[in-house]
Amino acid sequence: MCGIVAYVGEKSVDSVLLVGLIRLEYRGYDSAGVAVIDGGEIEIRKQLGKIRDLEEELRLHPVSGNIGIGHTRWATHGEPSKINAHPHVDSHKKIAVVHNGIIENYHLLRHELQKLGHKFVSETDSEIIPHLIEEELKTASGMVEALKNTIPKLEGKFSFTVIYENEPDRIFFARNGSPLVYGKGKNESFLASDVSAVIPAAKEEFRLDNGQWGWVTKNELHVFDENGKEVDHSLEEIKMNAMELDKGGFEHYMLKEIYEQPDVIRRIISNRIDGSTILFPEMALPLDYQGRVTRIIITSAGTSWHAGIIGKLYFEKYVKIATEVDISSEFRYRNPIAEGDSMVIAISQSGETADTLAGIHEAKSKFCRVLSFVNNVNSTIARESDAFISLMGGVEIGVASTKAYTAQLLNLLLYSMYLSSIKWLSTPEERSELITEIRALPEKIETVLKGADQIKEWAKELKDAKDFIFLGRHFNHPTALEGALKLKEISYVHASGYAGGEFKHGPIALISSEVPTVCIAPQTEIYPKMVSNIEEVKARKGRIVSIYTEGDTKVPEMSEFSFAIPKTIDVLTPILTIIPLQLFSYYMAVERGCEPDQPRNLAKSVTVE
Ligand code: F6R
Repeated sequence: MCGIVAYVGEKSVDSVLLVGLIRLEYRGYDSAGVAVIDGGEIEIRKQLGKIRDLEEELRLHPVSGNIGIGHTRWATHGEPSKINAHPHVDSHKKIAVVHNGIIENYHLLRHELQKLGHKFVSETDSEIIPHLIEEELKTASGMVEALKNTIPKLEGKFSFTVIYENEPDRIFFARNGSPLVYGKGKNESFLASDVSAVIPAAKEEFRLDNGQWGWVTKNELHVFDENGKEVDHSLEEIKMNAMELDKGGFEHYMLKEIYEQPDVIRRIISNRIDGSTILFPEMALPLDYQGRVTRIIITSAGTSWHAGIIGKLYFEKYVKIATEVDISSEFRYRNPIAEGDSMVIAISQSGETADTLAGIHEAKSKFCRVLSFVNNVNSTIARESDAFISLMGGVEIGVASTKAYTAQLLNLLLYSMYLSSIKWLSTPEERSELITEIRALPEKIETVLKGADQIKEWAKELKDAKDFIFLGRHFNHPTALEGALKLKEISYVHASGYAGGEFKHGPIALISSEVPTVCIAPQTEIYPKMVSNIEEVKARKGRIVSIYTEGDTKVPEMSEFSFAIPKTIDVLTPILTIIPLQLFSYYMAVERGCEPDQPRNLAKSVTVE
């Protein structure tokens, strides 16, 4: 969380930083700021709010220069405010720093620095960095040595960049646990939390590793390891396409990403399916190991956790492997027992989620192999896993995860089929039957999307409801959890998802004409049981919103609002049923005047535990 960007080159730095910060806004958006060396002096501009507020501040109080650093914040230490916004400076405003991460020992360091006479103006952990550097500079030969001496004093996870008035051509940096990438353009250098902030100007990149630090000028990059030894760095071509970062004519990224789902599914099909064979060419786990796996533990968070619950059902159905699913932040503290050939599967869109990363470390400490399913294949989770599977969802910018979720579901299903084939548990004919159904998915999703106007009407009618219940069973129990999460996070409406069977054990007490119940009731094996749930709600005069299979007449008759999805096999229903619910949360947010791409208090990459 928090995004950092730095630039040195020949362009006007304020506009370069603003473009970078807009691209990084998904990482946090409660305040933002820049520091620029302008006429030999450090100038700071900060603003509470979004990047557009900072842009206005820069319009009113312009800065000029060719070197600077910028930050967009998601508050951890200290409330969102102008004072707590980055960049932070030392006592003489000669050193400016932007930081992403948490300095865990900042209390102690702050206390020690205060004893030496340093005065702090913010409540942040980050402000200690420029003061520590200032202190080190008193004895060091220059900034390089001061930085080298500062880094070992910092405990926690961080990446930060520094500009220093006395060395006005260089940007200094360090990475330990939070992402940082170097981008090279023509006579210009960038540093950023994410490569999206530096394209299309930067053509080549170098992804820094934990423990690395160094400095850049407009044409040079110098990287050092923890011992101060300079390390080789070879630049790689940046493959990300700037077009992916546009809204493509949609009002919000979230809506664009919902509409991209047919293409995402097509991309996965064409890359992963060849006849009745399923392919995962990028996955580096030895075949004999995968054939031996006797237990799977899935660890993930939020939407990715919901995908994990469905993944468990796939693995148990097709591979007959006992599978557990755990929320990442719980997994690492429950002292998981890893015995025999247990494989840990980590699922993460961003590949940077701190809780999931901590789960991976826990798994590795127990000698389990870790396979991650990640959308960002250059991420920390991909790098720290024994092998990864690319979700192939394309860049997801909307804070609410949509297309990455359906990509997770399909990749998990295909991987379960892949395992079933290497364990000789499925025949090519059985796989072909499933594949035929999978191939029909993109068109079926398109059919669902054509009904968006109907969902928009629901949102108009239901926008004032304060509480929602979501019910689903079996493959669609996680759909109920996910539908409720989407509504909460972007519309700020309270919603709870339950397994239909659990309803009578307590939540049914909530039913009233004020609380609409969203029933996910496609025609699957457990359809009759969902019909019973709907009857129970109806008997108590609850308002019923339902998702049903086309051709069914019973469920729509019992419902006030109902939406039909095309027929498909049970295992694929969650890929279709979630789409009207994604649209519902989106239109509810719009109707209620909320900002769907930037919900309050949230950030796209949750890099703190
Ligand atoms: C919800 C959402 C979050 C993420 C969660 C895990 O729409 O996006 O719940 O799913 O923070 O993130 P990743 O998948 O990046 O590990």
